[in-house]
Amino acid sequence: MSAAVQTPNPDPVALRQMMVDRFGPRSVLTEAADTRRYRRDWHGDAEGEAVAVLRPASTAEVAEIVRFCAERNLAVVPQGGNTGLVLGGIPTSADGHVLLSLERMNRIRTIDAADFSAVVEAGCVLAAIKTAVEAEDLFFPLSLGAEGSCQIGGNISTNAGGINVLRYGMTREMILGLEVVLADGTIWNGLSTLRKNNSGVDLKQLFIGAEGTLGIVTAAAIRLVPKPTRTETALLALADRSDVMALYALARRECCDLLSAFELVPPEGMMLAKEADPNLALPQIAPAPAYALIDVSATGSLDLKPLVERFFETAMERGLVIDGVLASSESQGADLWQIRDGMNEGQAKRGVHLRTDLSVPPSKVAPFIQEGMEEIARCLPDCLPVAYGHVGDGNIHFNVLPPAGLERAERDAQLKTAKTILQAIVDRYDGGISAEHGVGRLKRDDFATRRSPVQERLLRGVKALLDPREMLNPGCQLPSARDGRDLTVF
Ligand code: FAD
Ligand code: LAC
Ligand code: ZN
Repeated sequence: MSAAVQTPNPDPVALRQMMVDRFGPRSVLTEAADTRRYRRDWHGDAEGEAVAVLRPASTAEVAEIVRFCAERNLAVVPQGGNTGLVLGGIPTSADGHVLLSLERMNRIRTIDAADFSAVVEAGCVLAAIKTAVEAEDLFFPLSLGAEGSCQIGGNISTNAGGINVLRYGMTREMILGLEVVLADGTIWNGLSTLRKNNSGVDLKQLFIGAEGTLGIVTAAAIRLVPKPTRTETALLALADRSDVMALYALARRECCDLLSAFELVPPEGMMLAKEADPNLALPQIAPAPAYALIDVSATGSLDLKPLVERFFETAMERGLVIDGVLASSESQGADLWQIRDGMNEGQAKRGVHLRTDLSVPPSKVAPFIQEGMEEIARCLPDCLPVAYGHVGDGNIHFNVLPPAGLERAERDAQLKTAKTILQAIVDRYDGGISAEHGVGRLKRDDFATRRSPVQERLLRGVKALLDPREMLNPGCQLPSARDGRDLTVF
């Protein structure tokens, strides 16, 4: 891919100075050393290029930047916490792309306990929102390993999932309204907190999951729920991995549908979490082919412990589970979750690997994992497959780690083979190649080959309506002549 932008700004030095003069030195980063952390992805697998990083502090300033860029034929690539896993927020052109970071727009505008809602700016870090509303006895259920860094604008733009989807839904279901800067710099104020509003098409849905290709999200009205007063956490050792969905169904039924998380953790997950943090205390639990990490939570005075204990006993009686650890305190529960969170970091430490975000109908999770494991073992016996995640939603992160010390070309060939194997199985199950991380630049081609002509026409029509000049995040989700150089990706 080569840069097809006819830039009217031949002198990048003068252009950058113009940006500094217009928006002030605090809002404009131009030195490579200062912009690198924005241009490099979370894993450090890829690095992009941009004219500059712009850091507005208000919606009006975002609108002004978008207009400034449009006038100069510069595309805008929005970025939140840069924890995205599909290279959606990484710019690709040193003379055609401006990276717009929302990080300074981090004000919580209002928390309305009577309304069970809050209005937050796009750059608010997810964990900061959760902490702020918890102080008001409220709960924002979106929960993911990156919550200490990712921002609500990024969560909305990727329609993030995480560990509580089975109870509360994806980000989309927690959004009541949005404020968005459109491609021509117009501000759309759709910050309603109404729960019910059927006055026409629900426009905010267009921007949720759009990965910054249709507008810049500058603020959101979010739906809150009462803060759970108790949570029981348990790690259960399964007798057989193929029983995982039977255990899931039992957990939902026996725990009065109060299950809020049900994560598959393979034994390798414990090893990887320990590699990430050698001080991590692993629980005393029987060796097993797979583990389920669960949370059951409720508000009010309901005593959850007997519920969870009874569920555990039934699961043992039915031969689904051979051992288990029930956390006896909040901090023990947090330690168990450290295993799940540490898995990602452990894999990152192993270097470049195949990360997937696959989904199949929940009833097909067990056969899907089994087939994937068998095929990877047969075709790539030296690789380490790690299948884990949000199985209650039918969402499996089936990752493949190559052996250490491979030549780059051989490593890439093996990872490509692994991807082809897994996607073929997913396609057979009518599954999805991006359950929660989005398409970005990483999965653009895989997405393209799976779109129907009607879907293609609708997606292109929406893009043409909202961003006819392809000024917003070109090359993300859909190919674009404004995309710059290829990033280092599989
Ligand atoms: P960024 O990475 O900055 O951007 C993501 C995309 O959104 C880009 O396309 C960008 O252009 C666009 N964007 C960002 N902000 C805006 C805005 N204000 N307006 C318009 N477009 C914007 N994801 C899950 O779904 N579930 C998980 O369980 C999960 N766990 C993770 C664990 C770890 C350790 C890591 C590193 C990532 C994980 N992720 C997970 C992926 C990632 O955290 C989410 O996709 C998150 O929602 C991205 O938020 P961000 O602020 O970092 O967005
Ligand atoms: C997780 C990320 C990878 O679930 O989505 O850990
Ligand atoms: Zn996930």
